[in-house]
Amino acid sequence: MPDEIYLDNSATTRVDPGVVGVMEGIFLNEYGNPSSLHGKGVQVEKLIKEARRSIASILQVEPEGIIFTSGGTESNNLAIRGTAMVPRRRGHHIITSSIEHLSVLNTFRDLEEQGYPVTYIEPDKRGLINPEAVAQAITDETILVSIMHVNNEVGSIEPIDKIGEVVKEKRRDIIFHVDAVQGFGKLPIYPERGNIDLLSISAHKLHGPKGVGALFIRKGVKIKPVITGGGQELGFRSGTENVPGIVGFGEAARLAADGMEEHSQRLNSLKERLIERLSSSVPDAIVNGALGEESAPHILNLSFPGIRGEVLVHSLETRGIFVSTGSACSSRKASTSHVLTAMGLKEAISESSIRVSFSIFNTQEDVDLFVEALKDVLKELREIYRGY
Ligand SMILES: Cc1ncc(COP(=O)(O)O)c(C=O)c1O
Repeated sequence: MPDEIYLDNSATTRVDPGVVGVMEGIFLNEYGNPSSLHGKGVQVEKLIKEARRSIASILQVEPEGIIFTSGGTESNNLAIRGTAMVPRRRGHHIITSSIEHLSVLNTFRDLEEQGYPVTYIEPDKRGLINPEAVAQAITDETILVSIMHVNNEVGSIEPIDKIGEVVKEKRRDIIFHVDAVQGFGKLPIYPERGNIDLLSISAHKLHGPKGVGALFIRKGVKIKPVITGGGQELGFRSGTENVPGIVGFGEAARLAADGMEEHSQRLNSLKERLIERLSSSVPDAIVNGALGEESAPHILNLSFPGIRGEVLVHSLETRGIFVSTGSACSSRKASTSHVLTAMGLKEAISESSIRVSFSIFNTQEDVDLFVEALKDVLKELREIYRGY
């Protein structure tokens, strides 16, 4: 039995040892400031350029379109606030979905409080957004549509290419932003194909360091910086660059892209194994959200009616198994998941849900041990509850 089985990879991932190695070299040797005129600065600037190139090539975009930030949350804020703040002659209506990550949702809520009219598109039962619903929400006043790629709680893959198409069919000047934090490096996503103007990504979801991310900004798209200062990152994001983080991100992205198809198949086979084992060992388990081609290979949301999700999380932890309830940022709060609620799940199902998320470091043995532990834990908990 391994010391621990980590199945919370949508919250964050273990940093790849290869990435740590590259970053160590930067901390110890390449400590120059990329803005410095001397050789130490120039050398570091070159390393940042390489990381920019590595990330741009995965998205098949020009490197100049990649702006480094402190993570997915900042990228989403820069994309949404940055678009909203551009003075326009035409309206200020903005559209998103009700199942976005809180870094998008709370930014929209904040803008709504400031007077921006907002439409929140509801998903279907599987956590999927209908492109037709987006098309219908667009008015002459719409300036921005922001829809996520992979939902972080249930793993549904949104039809981004189709949504991009309908947005641009309505009007080419509507900005289309995609929060691609959960899918980047695991599933292909191309701004060109999806008519995407702005796209957010984050390093720590793909075995890179925490506290670094990027925003792709299509050439010609106008956004206002949220952080002003010395004008780094083409003026879109001032502040001395997090060089070790950026270089680590570039390396993590390169490693992810090199094995993307193989990794994706491996993750999918772990997910399928888990579903299969559950159906024979824990038949009352309910799978929430889309399955098959409409769902990401690394995320599975499950409910066990009668047992609260957080109780299950803590009981599994006593056996060295780490999973989560909903998303990491909101799971410490005692509220039901806004995603499962928007999908129309009954409170009893939503309250009893946990999220299992895999990474390439997980094995079939992890899945089997998880199912065995789950079976035992559920039996124990049900016996305790029966005693009351
Ligand atoms: C879909 C999604 N968007 C944004 C974020 C925020 O990214 P970061 O943790 O890098 O700020 C997360 C992280 O959980 C996420 O899952």
